[in-house]
Amino acid sequence: MQTAGNDINIKLDKATICYDDMGNGEIPLIFIHGFPFDKSSWLNQLNYFKSSHRVIAYDIRGFGQSTDGEEKLSINLFADDLIKFMDGLEISKAIVCGLSMGGYILLNAVDRYPERFEAIILCDTQCIADTTEGKEKRKLAISEIEKDGLNNFATDFVRKIFCEQTFKNKIQLTECIREIILATAPQTITGTLNALAERSELCTTLNEIKIPVLILCGKEDQITPPTQSEAMLSIIPNAKLKLIEDAGHMSNLEQPETFNRNLNEFISDLARANI
Ligand code: MLT
Repeated sequence: MQTAGNDINIKLDKATICYDDMGNGEIPLIFIHGFPFDKSSWLNQLNYFKSSHRVIAYDIRGFGQSTDGEEKLSINLFADDLIKFMDGLEISKAIVCGLSMGGYILLNAVDRYPERFEAIILCDTQCIADTTEGKEKRKLAISEIEKDGLNNFATDFVRKIFCEQTFKNKIQLTECIREIILATAPQTITGTLNALAERSELCTTLNEIKIPVLILCGKEDQITPPTQSEAMLSIIPNAKLKLIEDAGHMSNLEQPETFNRNLNEFISDLARANI
């Protein structure tokens, strides 16, 4: 995947968070990755936006080069980390973009700390909690990982997150993501599967979101399908939805040009509205 970021560390309580911070701009653009990836999944976006904006991507605790701080993982904790991370960098307000679990974290933080966000981008995500069946699947995955390690989990996961087109044309990308999953500590994966299963629904909070929201979703996303994006669109007062052709759950990686163009249009409209 593209050139590397600049790997800076910041301590948040017991965890050390590793992040990339590039470019200049008044309102930073912060990217939160999905499960179980790391900040390198945003390199296309950092490279595209760094000439016009301050862009930041961080490894969620336990993922990539961030340490887990030995606390029980939860979406609440990850959302608190986002706010403490912004405090640590003296960022009072940001435009924040979260993919999948990154979106769950973002919606949780927006609900509790709305004043910290100028606008948000929700990618390949949803506001619902896990169904009973979904929770059971997570539990099964946890016990399989504890018994046999990450290999089968990584193979199955990669099969579900990319669309056919990506397997045909960008096989290296799918391999790269598999490597990232395999490089993650198994206890971070199992702890986060548990955190995902325990997360609360946030659909009932969406009508309180007063800032501009862009929703992006791969047309072939099977994990958080477009119907979930459409459901959020129907509740959030000031939202736009763009569906991305030839993309599954990893729309920013599968179709970076389209993803960046949509994000750029949204940010440019915000800038024009604030003049
Ligand atoms: C993600 O990409 O963050 C996860 O697939 C989300 C989930 O499993 O609910």
